[in-house]
Amino acid sequence: MTAGLEHMREAVGAILKRYQHDRGSLVAILQDTQAELGYLVREALVEISTGLDVPMSRVYGVATFFRAFSLTPRGRHTVNVCLGTACHVRGAVRILETIERETGIKTGETSEDLRFSLETVNCVGACALGPIMIVDGKYSGEITVDKVKPLLSTYK
Ligand code: FES
Repeated sequence: MTAGLEHMREAVGAILKRYQHDRGSLVAILQDTQAELGYLVREALVEISTGLDVPMSRVYGVATFFRAFSLTPRGRHTVNVCLGTACHVRGAVRILETIERETGIKTGETSEDLRFSLETVNCVGACALGPIMIVDGKYSGEITVDKVKPLLSTYK
């Protein structure tokens, strides 16, 4: 068994114990597992399925239902671009394309160096400041194509 797999099993085992193998705590168990491992690696879902005696299809269903859960590794920084109507008419698509070019990833993807994950949202309620780009929850309004690269370069 690899060290990574062993660590994962120990981590999931401790979490299951903390929740006393309670099936009703599946969401909380998945949350804690993601917090511990960074994302929900498939083997961890198998451990949880076995540990709770819940079908894998149900564990997988819950893990894919909530947007907060990720089944693939996450980047250190999450970049979001608002594609709501107001931001769209102010050129959000060009901002997104610039980010894609700079990071080499598309929406929903994570860069190989695990530096960035890229996502889009629909209106974050700051339309007057559009187009909006959000990195790790920090909003940058009135973003222009020229501002993208310098902004991304501040996130290592
Ligand atoms: S459309 Fe982007 S903040 Fe509303």
